[in-house]
Amino acid sequence: MQTHREARPTRTDGRGETLTVVDNRTGKTYELPIEDGTVRAKHFRQIRAYEGDFGLMVYDPGFANTASCRSAITHVDGERGILEYRGYPIEELAEKSSFLETAYLLIHGDLPTKSQLGQWVHDITFHTYVHENVKKFMEGFQYDAHPMGMLLGTVAALSTFYPDAKQVSDPRSRDIQTQRLIAKMPTIAAFTYRHNRGLPYVYPDNDLWYTGNFLSMLWKMSEPKYAPDPVLERAIDVLFILHADHEQNCSTNAMRSVGSSDADPYSATAAAAAALYGPLHGGANEAVIKMLMEIGDKNRVPQFVKHVKSGEGLLWGFGHRIYKSYDPRAKIIKKTADAVFELMGANPLLEIALELERIALEDEYFIERKLYPNVDFYSGIIYQALGFPVDMFPVLFAIPRTAGWLAQWREMIEDPEQKIARPRQVFVGPERRHYTALVDR
Ligand code: CMC
Repeated sequence: MQTHREARPTRTDGRGETLTVVDNRTGKTYELPIEDGTVRAKHFRQIRAYEGDFGLMVYDPGFANTASCRSAITHVDGERGILEYRGYPIEELAEKSSFLETAYLLIHGDLPTKSQLGQWVHDITFHTYVHENVKKFMEGFQYDAHPMGMLLGTVAALSTFYPDAKQVSDPRSRDIQTQRLIAKMPTIAAFTYRHNRGLPYVYPDNDLWYTGNFLSMLWKMSEPKYAPDPVLERAIDVLFILHADHEQNCSTNAMRSVGSSDADPYSATAAAAAALYGPLHGGANEAVIKMLMEIGDKNRVPQFVKHVKSGEGLLWGFGHRIYKSYDPRAKIIKKTADAVFELMGANPLLEIALELERIALEDEYFIERKLYPNVDFYSGIIYQALGFPVDMFPVLFAIPRTAGWLAQWREMIEDPEQKIARPRQVFVGPERRHYTALVDR
């Protein structure tokens, strides 16, 4: 049986495939090796037009066609709408796995045995508390500080609490920081939420499951013990699985790029979280809700689509750099939404979203550009039904993505071929000129 991997036409087995390049400036011919469907950019450096020429570079703003690493973690086939973590289809993981098991898979490469999982869950649970001074640090934020700003600032501050994290070449240190970060993210995230509400921070309850404990830290009031609803606990677990990794996206690239200077993983995670904050990345689900609220009524959808097509705005939650078909995560989220709506009541914005999807998927503009709903189109609607304010959406994305960032960071550190990330530029500024005194300008 042919698998989708075997069917990919661009993949080669690396046995002697080459690319012949003719430089029309000099008439010279070069034969460049092709490996795994790629040509190494550095091979272009030998192509020179004159003595002393630096050699050809490749120009690729936004890395639209540049592979920055070899990775064995997440495979995305954007044409076919396939997403796999370490070879496992996202659909199977969302149905059968748990977030912590999936995090183990991403970090360690294989599904854990029963005892490995028990140890992993214990290790993560052991690290859920934060230092009291972290709490004091967070109390210093303005009452209405954006929770994502609080989260990324606090994660960066963690590096000062764990100076041992600088030992990035020590595998034991990498393991401990990995456990600490995965464990503490929900605690910090919940503290940001309580802070915005003027509520006392709730300490972790280590009898509860990762997501149940998160709900307890968010919503526990005066009851002695919070009992999470199993449907909500599972819904959040599924959402966390879906968001755990997505290969070389903007925030993962930030994680690898900052980590490539041997910065500690807290600083690199803070940088990744900062990249996730932007509306074109993790902030898109917030933008989706704002857009749906602005549309306000399903009858106004055609008018809104017209406005997008005339270039006056984006259809938020649509389009993806990699997916040129339906994002498989969006499909699973739609299903998860039903369970949440049954319990919490439907989100009135859902009707507008469904109509928007229907009209957009029939429209030539979106068909031609292969624009389909991405993960963010429906995630915000669920988060809102769960009672989260829009400001919390990127925070909810950052918690599970921490597992992916760390898996990618560890892979980068262990890859002998990786170097400090330092792109080249095409200089288009002025020729050398000389300083003129202020009085002469
Ligand atoms: N609404 C309307 N037009 C769009 C959209 C959209 N959401 N996305 C892309 N286009 C158009 C774009 O204007 C361009 O048209 P033309 O060829 O006429 O210039 C064409 O489609 C190709 O788009 P692009 O901007 O070259 O594509 P890209 O790969 O650089 O951008 C994207 C990908 C996700 C930034 C973009 O689709 C977008 O801005 N989408 C809305 C924001 C969003 O939902 N982001 C969440 C991404 S998924 C979660 C994550 O990974 O963070």
